[in-house]
Amino acid sequence: MFNKLTAMPADPILGLLTKYREDPHSQKVDLGVGVYKDESGHTPILSCVKKAEKFRLDTESTKVYIGPTGSADFNRLMSELAFGTDHPALLANRVRTVSTPGGTGALRVAADFIKRCNPNATLWVSDPTWANHTGLFEAAGINVKTYPYYDYDSKSLKFDEMKAALASISADDVVLLHACCHNPSGMDLTNEQWDEIIAISVNQGFTPLIDMAYQGFGDGVDEDAYGVRNMAAAVETMVLCSSCSKNFGLYRERIGACTIIGKDAARADIAFSVLLYVVRCIYSMPPAHGAAIVETILGSETLKQEWLAELKEMRERINGNRAMLVAKLKEKGVQQNFDFIAEQKGMFSFLGITSTQVAELQEHYSVYMVDSSRISIAGIGNGNVDYLAESIAKVIC
Ligand code: LMR
Repeated sequence: MFNKLTAMPADPILGLLTKYREDPHSQKVDLGVGVYKDESGHTPILSCVKKAEKFRLDTESTKVYIGPTGSADFNRLMSELAFGTDHPALLANRVRTVSTPGGTGALRVAADFIKRCNPNATLWVSDPTWANHTGLFEAAGINVKTYPYYDYDSKSLKFDEMKAALASISADDVVLLHACCHNPSGMDLTNEQWDEIIAISVNQGFTPLIDMAYQGFGDGVDEDAYGVRNMAAAVETMVLCSSCSKNFGLYRERIGACTIIGKDAARADIAFSVLLYVVRCIYSMPPAHGAAIVETILGSETLKQEWLAELKEMRERINGNRAMLVAKLKEKGVQQNFDFIAEQKGMFSFLGITSTQVAELQEHYSVYMVDSSRISIAGIGNGNVDYLAESIAKVIC
């Protein structure tokens, strides 16, 4: 049965985890997988999470099944976090949410749901996009195509080309947009650009699928939801995939949410029944622990404020790292302009070096980043930035 298989290559992002862990170099630098790290290179459990976990442990009385939707409180709080409590789509009862195993689980549910809405739908993703988007949607049998997004030469958005491409996409298709902190480029739409994309979406009638894996890592929880909220207020149907991996630091707990917005409450109910069927066929019911933590935090004003403060600290550290790397590269004599890194948002940017230079950095300096030269900014710290900047300088100068 297995004899005809050929081995798959290591995942371009997750494969780096193993390589990095096995590297004995004392100054190795991990800029690979997108996880937050503190100054000491550790990914901490947030203090609000610890408190919420303790509360749940003390009060939980059963492990009985919840059901394919997951926790109703978690789902409500997550949609309020994404849209704001007084969003017109929420007030019109057009929003339905299921808890999912991480943001990736949300995307897979969305993929199978789309396949049932329209088996011939094409999903349009930005060029470039998160390395797993294409494989994930193709695995669900969906045809994936790209629209122009990032200009590697000018380190800016190909906004006119993006608009022209979206303006030719039909109502039968789905367009995947990153809510904020574009992965992998760090190049986000401005609010004005969102307004233009929303107008095109309304005009064309395609369904936007917004991936929000980093809410709160760009400018703030509400600021980062500008596109999500305004798109949801303007279009008839929409899908939103959210993740609690980064902003709650719940990576291995695997908790996220898939939200759909229907044209009206009745159509949202029908679509929701299909969503639940899809969930039942993939994994039956989502894990509960991460959802319990998040709903405890978001349901308590004190814990929510603590979470917002911890999230701000993570965001500010990342932004500080951006500026610090740019300054260090200049200090080490690098002539090439890297100012764009300080202007981009979220966990990632492309360094903009060749794959040969990426390989050289890994082989000779134990500096790890994705082949595309995507760097995870959270892996930079006061303790390694000199070594990192010197290594980059040696490889590119
Ligand atoms: C990343 O892009 O590094 C993260 O989203 C982790 C992952 O699963 O790829």
